[in-house]
Amino acid sequence: VYGETRLNSRGINFADREAHRHLDQALEEACRQPWLAAPIVDGQVLKGNAQTILNPADRADVIGEVLLADMNAADKALIVAYDAAPGWANRAAGERAAFLERAAELFEEQRAELMARIIREGGRTIQDALNEVREAIDFCRYYAVQARQYFEHPITLPSITGERSQLQLLGRGVFICISPWNFPVAIFTGQIAAALAAGNSVIAKPAALTPLCAAYVINLLYRAGIPQEVLHFVPGSGREIGTKLVSDTRIAGVAFTGSTSTARQINQALAQGTRILPFIAETGGQNCMIVDSSALPEQVVKDVITSAFNSCGQRCSALRVLFLQQEIAPQILEMLSGAMDELYIGNPMHLSTDIGPVISLSAHDDLQQHSERMNCEARLIKAMRLPWSSKQGNYFAPRVYEIEKFNQLQHEVFGPILHIIRYPASRLNDVVAAINSSGYGLTLGIHSRIGTTIDYITRHTHCGNVYVNRNIIGAVVGSQPFGGEGLSGTGPKAGGPHYLQRFATERVVTVNT
Ligand code: SER
Repeated sequence: VYGETRLNSRGINFADREAHRHLDQALEEACRQPWLAAPIVDGQVLKGNAQTILNPADRADVIGEVLLADMNAADKALIVAYDAAPGWANRAAGERAAFLERAAELFEEQRAELMARIIREGGRTIQDALNEVREAIDFCRYYAVQARQYFEHPITLPSITGERSQLQLLGRGVFICISPWNFPVAIFTGQIAAALAAGNSVIAKPAALTPLCAAYVINLLYRAGIPQEVLHFVPGSGREIGTKLVSDTRIAGVAFTGSTSTARQINQALAQGTRILPFIAETGGQNCMIVDSSALPEQVVKDVITSAFNSCGQRCSALRVLFLQQEIAPQILEMLSGAMDELYIGNPMHLSTDIGPVISLSAHDDLQQHSERMNCEARLIKAMRLPWSSKQGNYFAPRVYEIEKFNQLQHEVFGPILHIIRYPASRLNDVVAAINSSGYGLTLGIHSRIGTTIDYITRHTHCGNVYVNRNIIGAVVGSQPFGGEGLSGTGPKAGGPHYLQRFATERVVTVNT
């Protein structure tokens, strides 16, 4: 039950050697066969141009193949999903919820299979992969509970004498779900689970870089009993398949997580249509943390390391700019540099690895380019080194630069590069104004022991998730509904009590009794 009692999915105690050994074996087992992703439309596995998928930790390791959906596959998916939507919307919400609960059980059973794909295709560490599978399970269970709570029975409204008015929540039709590579299982699952729970049929387009994770999820959803006509899988390029899907007149809404620029393009495509459709977008952030001199330095350093470098900085919630009050800055920077020396960069298949690879060569090159600019414009505080010369993996060692002004950063830098800005205590208002000037509004960290400071920053900064005296990543379903505002997205918050409603239409039926 979600609500007062929180039941999130189980983790693994890595201190228990036996549990760790079991996991290692299961991961190894899962990696033995080559993996395949192919379009699935109305239950039919389709052919398409093949593309190999490489392990970001070792590009010589071909981990599988994706067959790309063509326009005919997308068209067929639209036809079938459109016809199937009314039937699915009219099923009892409890039945839809039961499929998702069954899916959650299967995800738990197949945890190692899912984790293996997240690690080898997404480059995520073991701990990240585990957390991601848990998040996917939580999404299924949470949305199942929400569907039962809000969709099962109409809400009776106050009515005048002689009439009865009731409000119903109903599926809208065909939802297009477009997901990112950085949470190839959790966000992919979360979008689909929400759209299905609310009574929509779904066409899912996974990120081009991580179709193998997505294909495995789809397979589990079918095994859980989700009817084949209400869920279709079309791996392919955003520019082709994505554009076709979001431009089609048969769709009823789009859920998208990815870059702000792609969200803009989808918004424009939707605006060309004659209908006005809901668009649920979760995009990036220029996330900051403000640390004043009352903060606890050890806690700050731990939380900065987690926020900036966990998942190799490839989270939309990750910390990009750390504002340090002048008085505390030298001590924090010294401790931060020491703590970074303890991070282990390596193969994500090993439990001791803290920092794995970035997703692609092109992501690596973007980070390299930004570093080169920073080398000219900023002061290098710390540059970690790769412990070996890796030509075959997309490794990028974390770096910290001190900059003068927030506007030296023009766009989100998606990786393990942290920027520091010192500020005098008297200019906290300028810090808040600078943060707001970015136009983004996703996560924000505050480290302070002063209630009025925390209150001032929280009230005046535009952002979706504020974290005080802790790290700023890893929002937990049901506890920290996640999503931003401004350039960071449209809301509502994934894993929160208002999410499913945005996938639904509301109908009020008034009967003269
Ligand atoms: N929900 C993730 C986090 O909080 C980001 O997408 O880190």
